[in-house]
Amino acid sequence: MRRPLVAGNWKMFGSRAENAKLVDELVQASFGGGVDVVVCPPCAYLWEVGRQLKDSRIGLGAQDVCAEAGPGAFTGEVSAAMLKDVGCGYAIVGHSERRALYREDDALVARKFVAAQAQGLVPILCVGETLDEREKGVTSAVVARQLDAVLGLAGVAAFARAIVAYEPVWAIGTGKNATPDQAQDVHAFVRGRIADRDATIGAGLRVLYGGSVKAANAAELFAMADVDGGLVGGASLKSEEFVRICAAAA
Ligand code: PGA
Repeated sequence: MRRPLVAGNWKMFGSRAENAKLVDELVQASFGGGVDVVVCPPCAYLWEVGRQLKDSRIGLGAQDVCAEAGPGAFTGEVSAAMLKDVGCGYAIVGHSERRALYREDDALVARKFVAAQAQGLVPILCVGETLDEREKGVTSAVVARQLDAVLGLAGVAAFARAIVAYEPVWAIGTGKNATPDQAQDVHAFVRGRIADRDATIGAGLRVLYGGSVKAANAAELFAMADVDGGLVGGASLKSEEFVRICAAAA
């Protein structure tokens, strides 16, 4: 009943020429009808990639969004309305690189989530613990805190129009993915936290796994009961690899 989704987070990689080739290969690929596929290029390329995707079934997402609705004097920022205007349907919020490198705290991430939804974008809310937090046994507490900040500001009803991505920080870009059981544990916890407030919304919420997903491990991760697809970084930059990951989710 939950339709799987795979989103490619290109991070700060690519060029106009590289993107054109990658998107061309993705548009040619047949993903079958059983999976939603989204790509999230850097902001500078959203419009052009969106044009190239226009007649395809592949969705467009941004990697971040400004917490302010704007328009206004927020140099360097891009509003949800602008993302919508250039064709985005999704926006990643709270990616661990934003949290760690740009000091985005839970309150700011919650505001970004609300700003995205206010323009009809589907937020992909990233949550996840660091290695240190996992070793201290506080994974659930960290993920709960990250979810609760959004629940507190947006309310549970907002999760009917959102996606959560569980991305253990220690698994991102390290080649060391969570085991299927580790992922399933946290995914079930995320779903339960939402379901405690609204059973229907919890049951319908898509929870993606992210962190060193590749073609070789995608099927076993996506086979878990509460894993509804993936948020894929490095492996989303290679069309053949990404297509195989999407096929594993379908
Ligand atoms: P990775 O990144 O697949 O390269 O580990 C995932 C992410 O950061 O979303």
